[in-house]
Amino acid sequence: MNQKTGIAGLRAMKDAGKKIACLTAYDAGFARLVDEAGMGLILVGDSLGMVVQGGSDTLSVTMADMVYHTRLARRGVQRAVLAADMPYRSYDSASDALDNAKQLMDAGAQMVKLEGAGAVLEVIRELVDKGIPVCGHLGLQPQSIEQYGGYKVQGRDSGDAERILNDALAVEAAGADLLVLECVPRALAGRVSRALKLPVIGIGAGVDCDGQILVLHDILGISSYIPRMANDFLQHGGSIREAIAAYVQAVRSGEFPGADHSFD
Ligand code: KIV
Repeated sequence: MNQKTGIAGLRAMKDAGKKIACLTAYDAGFARLVDEAGMGLILVGDSLGMVVQGGSDTLSVTMADMVYHTRLARRGVQRAVLAADMPYRSYDSASDALDNAKQLMDAGAQMVKLEGAGAVLEVIRELVDKGIPVCGHLGLQPQSIEQYGGYKVQGRDSGDAERILNDALAVEAAGADLLVLECVPRALAGRVSRALKLPVIGIGAGVDCDGQILVLHDILGISSYIPRMANDFLQHGGSIREAIAAYVQAVRSGEFPGADHSFD
């Protein structure tokens, strides 16, 4: 139970065909419960803009917010890999990204997550070159919500699907160690997961990913709106500890996500 997972451990889980359960946490108390449940990775997500701060999207989350919550979560995590989101506009240039990523690492993150490919590839290369592990994020990218005009499934037409697959390959080639794939059809997520050596962690991307991630407040039914890709693991009662354990078990067994939580 006390053995540290490490980023290499996540890769070993993919290689061994073991599903990786991941969840967000934003403070020490919940991070400890989530860690004790055996999560492979805990993400201090910029979803905190919605579930902690009460905003309608992630765009107003600042570096100071992320550093503060990463420092809190760090105090609760012993075993899982702790990742932190780079907030909106904090990686507009490679040099800004490096300064900001260092702050998150100093606050206790072991890896930073950033959204996109294209110009972001240079940023990923720069961070990796300076020894900062990176998790990419493709498919639906919440920081680009204004461009999408809403939270919509990505990659449904064949051109978009090919672009997402090629972007995923490029993110891996740039040196990322992990990829979050959000809200894409199950078949596309399966293709991406098979094509990449790094672990692909899905959210609304179907059961064929190497692991799953959800927002803590969604699995506990606290969020004001529970998206289709999530599941309230506390809806039938029990304790918070039991609900988190049920989520881990459902991911490991491949029971979650089912068809109700995925897209075609
Ligand atoms: O901000 C977040 O919580 C996330 C995920 C749930 C993937 O990016």
